[in-house]
Amino acid sequence: MTSTETADMFSRIILQHLNSGFLSVGIAFGSTTGLFQAMENMGEGKTSQEIADAAGLKERYVREWLGVMVTGKIVEMDDESETFNLPAHRANVLCAKDKFNTGTYTELLPLLCQVYSPITKCFTKNGPRGMPYSSYTGLHELMKKNTRAKYSKLPNFITSVKEVRPLLESGVNVVDIGCGDGFVVCRMAEAFPTSEFHGVDISEEAIISARNEAATLGLTNVTFHTHTAARLPAYWSELFDYVIACDTIHDQAYPDVVLSEIRRILKPNGYFSMMDIMAESKITDNMSNPIAPMLYMTSLMSCMPLSLYFENGAGLGTMWGKDKALGMLKSAGFQCITVAPTEDELPDYHYFNKKV
Ligand SMILES: C[S@@+](CC[C@H](N)C(=O)[O-])C[C@H]1O[C@@H](n2cnc3c(N)ncnc32)[C@H](O)[C@@H]1O
Repeated sequence: MTSTETADMFSRIILQHLNSGFLSVGIAFGSTTGLFQAMENMGEGKTSQEIADAAGLKERYVREWLGVMVTGKIVEMDDESETFNLPAHRANVLCAKDKFNTGTYTELLPLLCQVYSPITKCFTKNGPRGMPYSSYTGLHELMKKNTRAKYSKLPNFITSVKEVRPLLESGVNVVDIGCGDGFVVCRMAEAFPTSEFHGVDISEEAIISARNEAATLGLTNVTFHTHTAARLPAYWSELFDYVIACDTIHDQAYPDVVLSEIRRILKPNGYFSMMDIMAESKITDNMSNPIAPMLYMTSLMSCMPLSLYFENGAGLGTMWGKDKALGMLKSAGFQCITVAPTEDELPDYHYFNKKV
């Protein structure tokens, strides 16, 4: 508790948060409409009309948006010529194509606000248990963009432990559980042509997208399946040498069942890499995490209600944290060999496990 804080001081802090929330939605507009990209390509000193024309948008809306961006100190303005400039280093942070960019992530906030009213109802005692995936229009599309921003090259969890690369080079069977649009598993299939890869996702939309990705890359060593991870094919018992799951387990309605299915399909001594949010189970242990409120909000507005939607859903939430995760992995019959942050700009914990 901060005893020296006055109501005025606190009020200013809240005003700052309010302002940042609105500004963040403004940044999302710049990302979604391609305005940042247009400004980056045009260079310095352009009028609102020139920027609107380059982005193929209405000038009046672009001018109002520029007001947000200038006063929010994202875009610079020359008063006399009434021209605007997005400095190159800022454009790189907001819309770089070949690396992680935070601009894409701002789009999550307005997307999640689609369910603001329904989630408010979920809070009430007699309200709905949770929300189905179908309530989140555009979620898969955005996850696809975010995954590309996050894993622009071969995911570095592969090289962060000594066991994985030699295993993949030796020609093994691998499956990605909750593979989404298949971006990660396709990168792996490309890099390790002697191994056989599979991707499983409950979403037909994601699997169609994954098959397209594999076809575009001309991959013949990856197969995709629309399936729930809570009941994988019976004939998959002890079929795989290596299983991965990237940001999938905490969303599950029945994570204990999914973990035991993963154990079942692994060969004896097989490995399981679980990438999940870098968070701690105790709220106060997340105080030094600068994006903890964003992660808890993502949980509150999507990951948790998506799981609670199902009867007796676990509702672990995005922030289930390391202790809870380690406890569940152990109960499912895994020996967690190491837990370490991945080297991504928005790191996950990599739980590297062995079937015991
Ligand atoms: C946060 S996304 C992560 C996608 C992908 N692994 C990535 O890193 O881009 C979680 C994925 O898990 C999938 N999923 C959720 N529940 C599932 C289940 N029971 N079985 C299979 N996939 C599931 C979702 O459809 C979604 O594509």
